Amino acid sequence: MTMTQEMEPTSSTIFTEDELNAHQAFRHAFPFFRNNAELTYLDNAATTQKPQGMIDAIADYYANYNANVHRASHQVADKSTRAYEKAREDVRHFINAPSSKEIIWTKGTTESINLVAQSLAFSRYFRQGDEILVSALEHHANFVSWQQLCKKLKLKLVIAPVNAQGIDLNACLALINNKTKLVAISHVSNVLGSIQPINAIINKARLHKALTLVDGAQAIAHLPVDVQKLDCDFYAFSAHKVYGPTGLGVLYGKSEILNALTPYQYGGEMVSNVSTDDACFSELPHKFEAGTPNIADVIGLGATLNFIQAQDKTALALYEKKLYLALYQGLASIPGVKLQGSEKGTSAISFTVCDWHVQDIAELLSQMGFAVRVGTHCAQPLMQVLDTEKGTIRVSLCAYNTYAEIQALINALQSLEDFV
Ligand SMILES: Cc1ncc(COP(=O)(O)O)c(C=O)c1O
Repeated sequence: MTMTQEMEPTSSTIFTEDELNAHQAFRHAFPFFRNNAELTYLDNAATTQKPQGMIDAIADYYANYNANVHRASHQVADKSTRAYEKAREDVRHFINAPSSKEIIWTKGTTESINLVAQSLAFSRYFRQGDEILVSALEHHANFVSWQQLCKKLKLKLVIAPVNAQGIDLNACLALINNKTKLVAISHVSNVLGSIQPINAIINKARLHKALTLVDGAQAIAHLPVDVQKLDCDFYAFSAHKVYGPTGLGVLYGKSEILNALTPYQYGGEMVSNVSTDDACFSELPHKFEAGTPNIADVIGLGATLNFIQAQDKTALALYEKKLYLALYQGLASIPGVKLQGSEKGTSAISFTVCDWHVQDIAELLSQMGFAVRVGTHCAQPLMQVLDTEKGTIRVSLCAYNTYAEIQALINALQSLEDFV
């Protein structure tokens, strides 16, 4: 063995035994990897894989106690209602919200953000000329929702500048003033993987009595989230990005604000009293949950969160951090690769390769068994800043990915050099 070979990092030189054990136990819980042994799944920012416990919990609900919630008094309805509300409590605990009444079920991050935007509009919170601050790196869900509201209500959409590392904090803070009525910022960029300085932004917004909404879609699976420490007014995320089911999301909101808001969707279960003239809305959280909810997936998310809580979370987080660093450094070492973001990010890394069209690279990688994402990632304003109209290649990892997978991707990209 040569000196260079001896120095090559390996899984066991990078990670501690605890970190490797935590990773292996975690990965083992996901049947997807046994069923797709030839595939290297690195598209976790789009959606994450699902643990067996979640799949079993959903099947168990449908097979054994399928009944609508909060409507009937029979036994099976009682069981489904208890399981459904227990999951709400699991979410409360996961993000350290003060009360499960502040946890509202939605279809996903997108609907959570739209719920806030439309309910604020219905509540006449904004006046003509007020300002809403977003950043140029937002996912379209947290950009277009506010852009369109501004157009409709004649508000001003203020866009905090960003660079390839993330939000320009000083410039962002300077844009918050007494006209700012709402600040909507993502916790982690879905393109750059950069962790945004949301504490400083929330604090400045609070000084000016502006509401704050954090889009947590890309943070929830990768960072500890404590909404009381953050002191944001709203926090939105999707279940499917934290190993949970698709078609389900969460909106956390402070109860004093949610209580003051007028809901924008009407129907069964969100009303306590209805006459021909008017209706009284139910207490939180039901007032924002019109119609039959996504019961099975709520129960599935509860099972997922219990599974996550039972892992060695500290070791898993360290494992994922080191894996990210290895990926970043590996990509940086390939000639012709232009990286965005920095090694301080989490999960997602974006890059382009020389003059290659990103779509061609994705096609070649797909043929080699890699699932990565290419395109503009629902973040076109950011693509303008990065000056990559056709988008980037995005690799996004989770704690179940292996060092061997990262190495294989880097080798595959290195082999593309031969085509140049
Ligand atoms: C930062 C961010 N916000 C919002 C969304 C929208 O999430 P969903 O499509 O689950 O509603 C995504 C999805 O990729 C995202 O990455």
